[in-house]
Amino acid sequence: MVTEVTRTPAFAVYDDVLPAAEFAAVWEYMQRANYASVHQQMWVKTWRLSDGAPLGGPVLFSNEATARVANRVPSHAALPEEMVRQSVFPTGQAIDPLLETITAQGAGWDDLIGTQDRDWCGFTARAYLYPQGAGLSWHLDLGRYSGAYIYYAHPDWNVKWGGELMIADDPDRERLGAAFDPHDPAQTSIYNPDKTKRFGQHLDNTWENKKLLETGTGRYIMPKPNRLVIVSLGCAHGINPVSIAAGDKVRASVTGFFIAPEATSAARAAKGLPPA
Ligand SMILES: [Fe+2]
Repeated sequence: MVTEVTRTPAFAVYDDVLPAAEFAAVWEYMQRANYASVHQQMWVKTWRLSDGAPLGGPVLFSNEATARVANRVPSHAALPEEMVRQSVFPTGQAIDPLLETITAQGAGWDDLIGTQDRDWCGFTARAYLYPQGAGLSWHLDLGRYSGAYIYYAHPDWNVKWGGELMIADDPDRERLGAAFDPHDPAQTSIYNPDKTKRFGQHLDNTWENKKLLETGTGRYIMPKPNRLVIVSLGCAHGINPVSIAAGDKVRASVTGFFIAPEATSAARAAKGLPPA
């Protein structure tokens, strides 16, 4: 029985998301999946050089429309058959019930991630393993997304093992309430209207440091097994490194983005908003 643990204008947390048998099957999927360094092809700068060695599995898509937008396949071209068979729901793998559950709940998150078919057409899903020492520095999810989710698939967690999701307080979002539009740079100082100032934070985080220290408070979410977190766009967030106390245990998560439909991405780019 899914339980809503907490909900703010920026995020929502749910526990007991999958029935026990499906949760166990997703853990088996996590064990069977093939992983590579998240930097296998090049340095993905969201992970700073001090963020350890996280591993990522294959990227899956909740439907063909999402696979199309994410892979930049135009609507008149056919998706490669192998991509559909291996990566698009239903994949025939034990992760399918999780994708199904997220799809079924999507309509209840309008205030966090926008409206299905208008603001997002589906979502991605990728397994990650964060071993001891791995984390993810503070960042914003930008680009062709309308929100993100994290599902914790490891069977056990201990409060001493680290790996918490950290979400910074944002006074602008609180002040504006329902009127907050994460796509509008004029509404929030988290989105610097002069976008060029954000560039290069992976080598010099002066701007980010200044912004986050202005308030310097926030919320943490423990990576509790079978927990799902929905995160709105435009929240500064990060993952605390998995601590030395975790030993050989890994923080195993399935993470994805709610993907803006092609038309929405193009319209946003035309306004000079974060690029698709
Ligand atoms: Fe993120």
